[in-house]
Amino acid sequence: MKKKKNTPANIVWHQSKITKLDRQKLHGHKSLMLWFTGLSGSGKSTIANALQHELHQDGMSVYLLDGDNLRHGINRNLTFSEQDRKENVRRTAEVGKLFVNAGIVVLAALISPYEEDREQARLLFEPGEFVEVYVKCSLQECEKRDPKGLYKKARRGEIPQFTGISQPYEEPQNPEVTIDTTKMSVGESVQKIKSFILSELKLAEHKEE
Ligand code: ADX
Repeated sequence: MKKKKNTPANIVWHQSKITKLDRQKLHGHKSLMLWFTGLSGSGKSTIANALQHELHQDGMSVYLLDGDNLRHGINRNLTFSEQDRKENVRRTAEVGKLFVNAGIVVLAALISPYEEDREQARLLFEPGEFVEVYVKCSLQECEKRDPKGLYKKARRGEIPQFTGISQPYEEPQNPEVTIDTTKMSVGESVQKIKSFILSELKLAEHKEE
């Protein structure tokens, strides 16, 4: 049996009879984790949602893990402290990994402000399986958009630890895709990401294990 790194004591990995490749074959495409990162209001959820819809229309098995939505459930006990954001990213990446093992194209849209946490998330996946999408938008523009009115509240001091105002956002150093939402429409953004992942999703290019 394959020895897992960081194996918890007295817990033995149980091997599944069905492999990831078996599941991917059933879905008819490879599975991936598309990780959207960017400031609040940059457009992560909007673009991820539009991409999810288009891939679904194309007949793919897709699922969107939206940061705000996860904080209503699995992550509802987490705050916005640095430690809790780390845990937020860790849990989401682990859940995403389960989806990828299930043969599904999973999209995660989270601010995920720390480069180190995103890199830890990437390490859970096989090479090529984790696609980081940087949804780039200046703080000034996000604040102008302020779709949820949160920047105004944060400026008034009503929301502590707000990303971009009282907490940092570390730009990705090597994202697979960068989308500048001050220059690109939602449709153009979807097409750019789609053209990047299309060859990655072809099962034929996936080596037999
Ligand atoms: S993350 O930093 O931990 O990845 P996540 O994406 O889950 O953040 O949640 C961010 C969303 O929570 C924002 O879109 C915003 O609507 C809301 N929010 C509430 N408080 C804060 C805060 N202090 N900083 C950033 N976003 C916040």
